[in-house]
Amino acid sequence: MMTAHASVETLAKSVRDGDVEYLGKPLRVDELLGCIEQLKARREAAGSRPALRPEEPEGFEGTAIVGRSSKMLEVYRTIARAAPTDATILIVGASGTGKERVARAIHEHSRRAGKPMTAINCGALAESVLESELFGHEKGAFTGADAARRGLFESSQGGTIFLDEISETTPGFQVKLLRVLQEKQVRRLGANTAIAVDVRILGATNADLMERIRAKQFREDLYYRLSVITIRLPSLDERREDIPLLAYHFLARFNARNPRQVTFQASTVDLLSEMSWPGNVRELENLIERAAILSATGEISPEDVEHCREEAASTLPAVLPVPATPPVGGTLKDAEREQIIRALRESAGNRSEAARKLGIERKSLYKKARRMGIDLDAISK
Ligand SMILES: Nc1ncnc2c1ncn2[C@@H]1O[C@H](COP(=O)(O)OP(=O)(O)OP(=O)(O)O)[C@@H](O)[C@H]1O
Ligand SMILES: [Mg+2]
Repeated sequence: MMTAHASVETLAKSVRDGDVEYLGKPLRVDELLGCIEQLKARREAAGSRPALRPEEPEGFEGTAIVGRSSKMLEVYRTIARAAPTDATILIVGASGTGKERVARAIHEHSRRAGKPMTAINCGALAESVLESELFGHEKGAFTGADAARRGLFESSQGGTIFLDEISETTPGFQVKLLRVLQEKQVRRLGANTAIAVDVRILGATNADLMERIRAKQFREDLYYRLSVITIRLPSLDERREDIPLLAYHFLARFNARNPRQVTFQASTVDLLSEMSWPGNVRELENLIERAAILSATGEISPEDVEHCREEAASTLPAVLPVPATPPVGGTLKDAEREQIIRALRESAGNRSEAARKLGIERKSLYKKARRMGIDLDAISK
């Protein structure tokens, strides 16, 4: 990065955002050359693998991770460092934050990239099914096992197994998984001998595993085995600055797949950035898809977004937080105004706290208050 506006802030930011070097203006060629030499040495030391550039979509069907917030850069940095190793990685984050996408990125940047990554949803399978799927079984191991069968551990040799919703497994299964992790061997159900396996395990959960451990639902020893590296994905509300980027990404993907070209009204992107997203990236993705399909003019307006959100609220009540007191009558704007005033009162005028209660940034609170003619100072008193 080269800039004429040298300051501690810009320097700290440029380093934080991506291990780059920083040069002040005017350009001094000897300084630049020294810097390039240093970077070259660093890259050679890091190995020849191409740098991870997750913010560049690799075609819209790709598995690109979109986001440039510092929280996501931290995630990329961990992926970049941990992916080439064989370390077991636990990916935690709320629903729809991109855990599976991160698992793919880890696989694709590992030496296992040429081999398959098998994703298995532990929450969707009964213990016995999960065990025979993963470990395989011998003929006659249980009723109905008329032939021997290889499990996914064996068929994924050299690859990666992604255990999604790992919190939902039973302690019985967890013991068996722990043994595989420790011994790097699997034993088919009903078999006497074990088979060596070279498989990397990635796990994901949106549950609080510590709480599960306290409740004796999750084995602590397995937890420590799994979480050698933990990647914590921020919720979308924690990285609002990425919302425009994601919104344009999903719209561009829609346009690439459809003959009708749709755009955003400028104020639509502002609205998207101010909204709260309990369903995270998945919710944003679905909303944009729907708004793009339904928009009558080919230009998505803030009203289109609000309309889609209401529809989603009526079909997916579980994802949305239930308001403390449902607004009675009045328009949406009235309800919003009321909520803002209530949040401010409840926070005794503390604006940061009120913004947090509302699930928006303080800046948005100021903007909304100004737009709605709410006198922040009057409410504080
Ligand atoms: N950073 C991102 N960039 C682009 N798309 C994303 C990103 N994060 C998530 N998505 C998209 O959002 C949706 C949800 O992502 P994903 O399935 O990886 O989330 P998850 O954390 O596994 O959710 P769940 O806990 O519900 O399984 C997917 O369609 C995915 O493609
Ligand atoms: Mg998932």
